[in-house]
Amino acid sequence: MKILVATEKAFAPVAIKLIREVTDAAGYELALLENYKDVSELLSAVADADAMIVRSDLVTPQVLDAAKKLKIVVRAGAGFDNLDLPACTAHKVIAMNTPGQNSNAVAELAFELMLYQARGGFAGKSGSELRDKHLGLHAFGNVGKYMAKIAHGFGMQVYAHDPFVKDDDILKEGVKICKNVDELYSKCQYVSLHMPANDKTKKSIGYDLLKKMPKDAVLVNTARKEVIDEDGLLKIFEERADFRYLSDVEPDCKAVFEEKYKGKFIFTAKKMGAQTEEANINAGVAAARQIVDYFKTGNEKYRVNK
Ligand code: 3PG
Repeated sequence: MKILVATEKAFAPVAIKLIREVTDAAGYELALLENYKDVSELLSAVADADAMIVRSDLVTPQVLDAAKKLKIVVRAGAGFDNLDLPACTAHKVIAMNTPGQNSNAVAELAFELMLYQARGGFAGKSGSELRDKHLGLHAFGNVGKYMAKIAHGFGMQVYAHDPFVKDDDILKEGVKICKNVDELYSKCQYVSLHMPANDKTKKSIGYDLLKKMPKDAVLVNTARKEVIDEDGLLKIFEERADFRYLSDVEPDCKAVFEEKYKGKFIFTAKKMGAQTEEANINAGVAAARQIVDYFKTGNEKYRVNK
């Protein structure tokens, strides 16, 4: 069996070492394609792979056509919007993710962005504190839970809205429930996004919601840039000098922000949420174990395609 790790944004070396321990113990071969620059490199690397581990790398029909022996692809991470699921099914490839494995890293990054912004980038001017501020968690999955724990440490008031999570599961984390998004955005100076990107959520955060946010509003996006309606976001920035946008990955309208709104945004150049040694180890090793388990026992627990 040949397991290919294909990552345009490489894992930490220690994670690769631990992934190799898992594949060695199973008697499988491990192949690495890291920091590749062109999809043609992926197409040739995947040609003889039985399994593949990816991060945000796009698994398209073209990649699957080239992957003649592929039986399983695991997205080492939570969001699997980069996997073409119908195409995986059509190619008889099992698709999985590794939910929860990098959630703490993403939550910590959200706070790093909030703290850096609250202190004006450590430029010597008086800033503000997080204590007693209202934090709204838009979606309350694995990242949302870590957000709540950290926020409580800072003394923030934490609210959440997530129609897919039972009220009790939100309340037991010490988080107050908002019955709808309007309430969440109206109550919270800080709103942090934690939903997946799918047909329902894409472009769902726009002007009508954002305008409800209180004075000195801060929108934190460590989810996906696609969930933002960027025209609506730009309209808010035109109208409100107090608005801030912190995003893990640059929006398509980055040039407008750079021209007009200096100091009011932070954008990471590459997605950094899961870029820690710990998250790379957790997600990478989980992916390798899931592949071995699937081949040895047929376990499909984390399958995301039908
Ligand atoms: C995820 O969905 O798990 C994160 O966005 C991580 O993405 P990355 O593996 O590309 O850093």
